[in-house]
Amino acid sequence: MYSEKVMEHFANPRNVGEIPDADGVGEVGNPDCGDIMKIYIKVKDNIIEDIKFKTFGCGAAIATSSMVTEMAKGKSLEEALKLSNKQVAEALGGLPPIKMHCSNLAADALQAAVNNFRNNEQVIK
Ligand code: FES
Repeated sequence: MYSEKVMEHFANPRNVGEIPDADGVGEVGNPDCGDIMKIYIKVKDNIIEDIKFKTFGCGAAIATSSMVTEMAKGKSLEEALKLSNKQVAEALGGLPPIKMHCSNLAADALQAAVNNFRNNEQVIK
C-alpha cells in the first residue's frame, strides 16, 4: 500500500529534531487523527539554510515531513511557500488516497514556519 520511497523515509527520516534557536517555527495538527507536526527553520539571506521536524503521527506523516524538509532545504522562502502537498506526495512516489491528508500537514507546517519567520522579522524591524 505504501511506495518504497515512503517506507524508506519512514524508516530513515531525514532532518529529525529541533532547532533551539530557530528563526521560524510552524506547528499544525489534524483534528481528525490527532497527529501533530512541527517544523523549525533557520533562514539566511532569504534562503532556508537548515530545517528540522518533529512529528507525532502516522508513518505517512513522518515520511512526508522528512520529504518536505529535504525539498525545502536550500530553497528561497518564496519557493518553499510554493511547495504543495501534491508535490510532496509525488516525490514520495504517491500516497494511498486515505493518506493524502497527511501530506497536507507537511506543506502546511512548512508554510506556517515561513509565515512565523516573516512575522518575527516584522517585530524586530
Ligand atoms: Fe493523520 Fe497521517 S493519519 S497525519
